[in-house]
Amino acid sequence: MALIALLAGDGIGPEVTAAACTVLGALALDLRFEEAPVGGAAYRVAGHPLPPETLALAERADAVLFGAVGDPAFDALERTMRPEQAILGLRKELGLFANLRPARMFAGLEDASALRPEIAGRIDLMIVRELTGDVYFGDKGRGLTRTGLREGHDLMRYDEVEVARIARTGFEIARTRSRRLTSVDKANVLETSQLWREVVNEVARDFRDVTLSHMYCDNAAMQLVRDPGQFDVIVTGNLFGDILSDQASMCVGSIGLLPSASLDSEGKGLFEPIHGSAPDIAGQGKANPCAAILSAAMMLRTSLRMPEPAGRIEAAVAAAIAGGARTADLGGTLSTGAMTDAVLAALG
Ligand code: NAI
Ligand code: MG
Repeated sequence: MALIALLAGDGIGPEVTAAACTVLGALALDLRFEEAPVGGAAYRVAGHPLPPETLALAERADAVLFGAVGDPAFDALERTMRPEQAILGLRKELGLFANLRPARMFAGLEDASALRPEIAGRIDLMIVRELTGDVYFGDKGRGLTRTGLREGHDLMRYDEVEVARIARTGFEIARTRSRRLTSVDKANVLETSQLWREVVNEVARDFRDVTLSHMYCDNAAMQLVRDPGQFDVIVTGNLFGDILSDQASMCVGSIGLLPSASLDSEGKGLFEPIHGSAPDIAGQGKANPCAAILSAAMMLRTSLRMPEPAGRIEAAVAAAIAGGARTADLGGTLSTGAMTDAVLAALG
């Protein structure tokens, strides 16, 4: 029986992970859940956003189902104690270097997209974001300049092994799709990006069946809105991937729709919606649970090797949406619970 570490976290995290568990429960799978506090919720009970017991559970489990962390009550805490450190810590400690963020248009949802329907209808892409390097993990600090001005810095840094392994993941995923890979960087101004491009080109020699192109991040942001249909798989660094995937979500219709998988080199992973804790709607039953439900499906498919129930969940979400089920972020009136019920009904 597979052990799932359930880390619900803060804000809407517990609301959307509960929805995901309800859907998983309806499938009567051989799963066992164990819960642990994380983020602000953990800081409240244990004085740390990622208590050792929580990390130990995540390490022991076959997969981690994660909600979101972040709580404005802790905005004044120093950076290393903020709730968000929990997710950064989990990614680093578990070696989750590959973040897979699929974005695909749902039939009948073109009207909710920020793009024109005929453009939105063509979205079917996968963002492969590097997750354990870049400015998020480089040297950070505060100080004073020589003239006494306050200064802050975050070092952007990658080594060739880090770039090569995420590039490889990008190429491998492209092989399972339309065999087109776009590597996104900022090689016109950043040294890290020049290394990135060099290494991606080297890795490309092992994947001659995949068509590789390079694009600057600013252009990619523009192209994603102009013509997202041109992309199949995008591979990029931590910071660019973070921004581009939030942007991709709005092209699909809502950030409440996009799931993600964060994987280590063996395929073990943490699964979470790409959105955060949404304190502005927390506790109101307004959150769209689809991103969390689809994250559970990714967990079944990727880490637990249960493609059949994963496919059933994905089909049920698509059917519920096609049938008109909409939470407020999609212009509808359904609560989190009612949206979950619509998915359950479509599961049959
Ligand atoms: P956010 O993703 O939480 O919210 C952005 C906007 O989207 C808000 O207006 C929110 O109401 C809406 N939204 C998000 N998820 C939704 C859903 N499922 N259904 C309907 N509407 C939804 O990003 P924001 O506001 O920048 O950050 C809030 C907190 O979450 C911060 O503390 C941030 O650091 C944290 N965060 C945590 C992440 C994680 O745990 N992996 C990822 C991103 C942010
Ligand atoms: Mg983000």
